[in-house]
Amino acid sequence: MRLLVTGGAGFIGSNFVHLTVRERPDVQVTVLDALTYAGDKTSLAPVADKVTLVEGDITDAELVDRLVGESDLVVHFAAESHNDNSLTNPWPFVHTNLIGTYTLLEAVRKHGVRFHHISTDEVYGDLELDDPAKFTADTPYNPSSPYSSTKAGSDLLVRAWARSFGIQATISNCSNNYGPYQHIEKFIPRQITNLIDGIKPRLYGKGENVRDWIHVEDHNSAVWTIIEKGQIGETYLIGADGEKNNLEVVEALLEAFGLAKDDFDHVKDRAGHDLRYAIDSSKLRDELGWEPKYTDFQSGLQATVDWYKANEAWWRPAKEATEAKYAAAGH
Ligand code: NAD
Ligand code: DAU
Repeated sequence: MRLLVTGGAGFIGSNFVHLTVRERPDVQVTVLDALTYAGDKTSLAPVADKVTLVEGDITDAELVDRLVGESDLVVHFAAESHNDNSLTNPWPFVHTNLIGTYTLLEAVRKHGVRFHHISTDEVYGDLELDDPAKFTADTPYNPSSPYSSTKAGSDLLVRAWARSFGIQATISNCSNNYGPYQHIEKFIPRQITNLIDGIKPRLYGKGENVRDWIHVEDHNSAVWTIIEKGQIGETYLIGADGEKNNLEVVEALLEAFGLAKDDFDHVKDRAGHDLRYAIDSSKLRDELGWEPKYTDFQSGLQATVDWYKANEAWWRPAKEATEAKYAAAGH
């Protein structure tokens, strides 16, 4: 099988490529990645001899047409992915998440190639803290930020191309991932690398916001399950029942570093900050038989802390600029 992975030099995409090389030696992997600030060639270094990396933009119609035409399956991870960035400069989100997805869909339609679209639970908006409900594939779309609204738009493009043009597509909407190779702008690796540098973790607002954490390996095993067993045209929600508020996560990180539970700073809240995400993944579990493996959050977090301690050369070059960006935004 010839597989094209967009965004394969980013966090989840690079972990997906590692998993694929490890477990599916019959798959020939090509990565298409623009190597933005969030993409890093060295994330693919352990598999470099088994993967072809093409540096290019998913809005480049000619390049996309050629690469899709040479593939049997496209798994589409490439995106601008950080909410805070979308609040300071939304344009790259419109460019990549909407125009990029459109460009891929046109090539997939022309060449009749199977397409799996990676999306987020943020398309559903947020839930109240005391609401027993969770997101399902029937929850109405109600995105809050420029990031989530462009992801919602990209999902709707995929649905329209499936219905109107009959493309062979599936969609997955996953909750918050953690694990190795995550950019240090994101919540967990930002706090881990701060703690390594002797800086206190930074909690937005009161820290009551809830995220439904899943290990990146579980996200990616679910994606392979959907590719192999999912129904064409269907949407599957991916989650591992990992709801925690941000204060609990900071406390767990402080514990992993042997520090006091209250050794953190409160900083300015995010504009439009979604309160709670929670995934009902029963469709994926009951219909396709998927189960998460990394269900103990504290040990998954400890392994992630150990990875960042052991791989300082990977994250150090981005630290100063990332923190300068946060300082300018008051976070
Ligand atoms: P990331 O920011 O770490 O990686 C994105 C990758 O896409 C980078 O390698 C970047 O260089 C590449 N890219 C960006 N613009 C591009 C363009 N125009 N052309 C080609 N490549 C481009 O993101 P991530 O956290 O790995 O997220 C991957 C996907 O998963 C995204 O679609 C995101 O919406 C989705 N998702 C993420 C999470 C999460 O918790 N991180 C959860 C659910 C869904
Ligand atoms: O739910 C899936 C989404 O999860 C993905 O679609 C996004 O690509 C991914 O970035 C993530 O979005 P969040 O906005 O939830 O993740 P982030 O890591 O930016 O923040 C997680 C929570 O932590 C959020 O409530 C904001 C808070 N936060 C974040 C940072 C960077 C802090 O309290 N302090 C911080 O320093």
